[in-house]
Amino acid sequence: MYNSDSFNALKTHAARMNSPALHLKHLIKDPLRLTAFSLKTPGFFYDFSRQRLDNTVRQSLTHLAEETGAANTFADMAAGRRINTTENRAALHTAARGFLDPGLKPDDPQILCDIQTVVQDIRTFSEDIHHRRITGTRKKPFTDAVVVGIGGSYLGCEFVYNALNAIQSTGSQYLNLHFLSNVDIDNFGEITSRIDPDTCLWIIVSKSFTTTETMANLAQVQAFLRRHHLKPDHHLVTITAKGSPGDDPSNPVLASFHMFDFIGGRYSVTSAVGGVPLSLAFGYDIFERFLTGCARMDRHALDAPAETNIPLTAALISIWNTQVLGYAAQAVIPYSSALSKLPPHFQQMYMESIGKGVDKNGTPLPCPAGCIVFGEPGTNAQHSFFQLAHQGPAFPVEFIGVLRPGYTGDQTTSKGVYNHQELWANLIAQTQALAEGRDHPDPARSFTGNRPSSLLVIPDLTPESIGMLLSFYEARTVFEGFVLNINPFDQFGVELGKILAAGIRSHMAGRNAGTASGESTPDPVTAFYLNALFNGQID
Ligand code: F6P
Repeated sequence: MYNSDSFNALKTHAARMNSPALHLKHLIKDPLRLTAFSLKTPGFFYDFSRQRLDNTVRQSLTHLAEETGAANTFADMAAGRRINTTENRAALHTAARGFLDPGLKPDDPQILCDIQTVVQDIRTFSEDIHHRRITGTRKKPFTDAVVVGIGGSYLGCEFVYNALNAIQSTGSQYLNLHFLSNVDIDNFGEITSRIDPDTCLWIIVSKSFTTTETMANLAQVQAFLRRHHLKPDHHLVTITAKGSPGDDPSNPVLASFHMFDFIGGRYSVTSAVGGVPLSLAFGYDIFERFLTGCARMDRHALDAPAETNIPLTAALISIWNTQVLGYAAQAVIPYSSALSKLPPHFQQMYMESIGKGVDKNGTPLPCPAGCIVFGEPGTNAQHSFFQLAHQGPAFPVEFIGVLRPGYTGDQTTSKGVYNHQELWANLIAQTQALAEGRDHPDPARSFTGNRPSSLLVIPDLTPESIGMLLSFYEARTVFEGFVLNINPFDQFGVELGKILAAGIRSHMAGRNAGTASGESTPDPVTAFYLNALFNGQID
């Protein structure tokens, strides 16, 4: 990408866009700008009129997509070709909803058959739980499920659970979900204080079934079940890869579902990873409606030409902002508390996928790919980091607005407007303030403006809309990887810390067993913290 004609052209455009005449406060005065710089597909509107670009930049971005063959790679991905080259695997999260749309079928028909078998198992299992055909050791119906997993085996499911929980009316047969991700024992203690052991299911989600945090938490769960005289084959469910250490019939569990090697953790919400907990929480039909929304956006990403392709355009703008204009971060700010877990989910999906130093052939990149992603729901974010957003180092913001709130109960007005209108007043105002800025005789009250943002609008918080939003972020992420010529499906960068933790853990285990003297000597700083931990105080 970095040597392509279009990328070189973009660098020239960047210098031109710095001209005061092209400040956003001037660009947004054009009455045709919103029409020219927004895209829509049924159920989804993407406004990028407040990004620092013009038609020439847009054309070069479209050329960049064409030159790098991003659309073809996306089609190869959906067809099931092994585009995850470093791990020699396909990347087929779109197939997880492919049974709902013939246009999303991968080349190998067996893949869809295998996926459908798991989906059918999810349906049967969740219905058996809801109809109380399956109960716990003491024959009480289940009321709660704790999802035990970390990273991609947790964040997406938590996002969708929170988003759907805002409006789904839950009958008594549906389960409340809790998430045990951190190895922090306080996380475990807090959850066990909220559940009734007799009516709780524990869903262990780990593709590898070797992740240290999840295995440590599983050990806590097993001890907890023993303490309460509950049987694992009545209360434990596993979701793991075929052949993993957790896929072991000699350790009986209530139910076991497979994760496929062709669906990576951070893209796995629509597989059994999300399917089992979300079906238990809302019923299988809601989960399927959510998949339908994902499939709609998948088809758009697959079929829409580059100029009207929403996730591809968002990926190109992200590249323009980070690789050309040089912004070091981007924020995702949903003006909806139901979407409060989207920023952490996208943060992991984006930074683990795009934060790379080499291209897909292992050649170092001229500059590292990706940027810092963070976010909070609005308006809370305004009272948190918006001082810096308006007057500190600039970063692009992706705002998300929901037209119709989930809550339709009694409402009153304050200052003449409903809460949802107040939310939107702030959302619109923030996009304007960032773009326009303000001149003021007092420099402390001046705002430079020219700070880019986009606005995504979804009509509501239905499962279909949440599915479209999830799939938009997945497609936007992989498109960015394809244009940058990196592999968005591997994550070798997380290895080093895990390797170092293993050495420190073995030293701790030695001290616990009273045999520390033979263990490798830690460096002085590590030794200081180990002593503090073992003594419970800083000396
Ligand atoms: O943090 C790295 C990572 O491998 C993620 O990519 C993955 O989603 C997570 O850990 C959990 O892995 P597993 O599902 O194998 O427990």
